[in-house]
Amino acid sequence: MYVTTVKPGVVELRLVGFDVLRRVQMPRKAGGGFLKVPVALREDATPFVRDYRTIPHQLTLGATLSGKSMYLRHLIAGLAPQPVALVGIDCKRGVELAPFAARLSALATDPEQAAELLPVLVKEMEDRYDLIKARQGIAPGIPDEEITSDIWGLPEEERPVPIVLFVDEVAELFLVATRKDEERRDEMVTQLIRLAQLGRAAGIYLEVCGQRFGAELGKGATMLRAQLTGRVCHRVNDEASAKMALGDIAPEAVYAACAIAPERPGLAVAGDTSGGWSRIRTPYLSLGDAAEICRESAHLMPDLPALKPFRPDVPLLPPVEAPVSLVKPRPVTD
Ligand SMILES: Nc1ncnc2c1ncn2[C@@H]1O[C@H](COP(=O)(O)OP(=O)(O)OP(=O)(O)O)[C@@H](O)[C@H]1O
Ligand SMILES: [Mg+2]
Repeated sequence: MYVTTVKPGVVELRLVGFDVLRRVQMPRKAGGGFLKVPVALREDATPFVRDYRTIPHQLTLGATLSGKSMYLRHLIAGLAPQPVALVGIDCKRGVELAPFAARLSALATDPEQAAELLPVLVKEMEDRYDLIKARQGIAPGIPDEEITSDIWGLPEEERPVPIVLFVDEVAELFLVATRKDEERRDEMVTQLIRLAQLGRAAGIYLEVCGQRFGAELGKGATMLRAQLTGRVCHRVNDEASAKMALGDIAPEAVYAACAIAPERPGLAVAGDTSGGWSRIRTPYLSLGDAAEICRESAHLMPDLPALKPFRPDVPLLPPVEAPVSLVKPRPVTD
């Protein structure tokens, strides 16, 4: 039984007679909307909504095969039909995000490309701050950190389109072999921190996921993590990983994350804005269906000239999910 306070004097009691997270079915009225994606179900049978305007940046952690990419897949499919630019960094050579290429304004599939893409995003953010300053009559010399207004205060016809940056497997992005790589990595961490610190007002949101996110990722990693205030932790292999995701939210949340069974991929513990936490699970969404949604909404891709050089090639055939798919491939009609 779940008890929620609706308003003073009124409580809502929810009786859930069976385990709704065993086979997840999202309720019809799931509370989606502009920059709001109902991405999973809570164990009290209410939808868990990823709301970018309330929680701009999120970190999703979990061991391999725990369901992180499925979580991202839902977000991409949910945002694709909206006027939002989607940008991907997937240093596993694009295996996770390339199937969504038709709807991606930019895609980096290795650290070299990411190192070129990130400064362009930072520049885009700074341009947006300049636009806000010009519109509000703020002197150009005022540092961006001191600006309190955001793109939502701009008239609609001048308002830049929101950008969501997806980073799948953040550790791959920060992997270094040489001294020179190390410099590049530190630069990228700095750029990501800057995007996280100032992105919200410019309508730029970060969705970062990885197997671990600790000091081993290098200088600045802890600072970056602190900026990613939304937290979702899938199954982990050790308590240390769960602590990285939820330690600063609630100790019981850490135990709950450590108790997730491998038979239930997609099950996770999500930190709440209220300081609480809940158990959630994504429904199943096949890669083919998510890619189809991206192809169907490809025409909605906003025009962002700065990102043009990073537009991914669109594969000619829909992706086939490993190991075998019974769906016959068919050509893309453009
Ligand atoms: N909610 C879910 N319901 C059913 N199956 C799921 C769910 N989430 C994930 N899976 C399945 O579990 C497997 C692993 O999921 P996914 O690829 O998202 O994991 P991952 O955490 O991204 O792993 P990796 O770190 O290796 O990339 C996939 O085969 C996926 O189809
Ligand atoms: Mg993955």
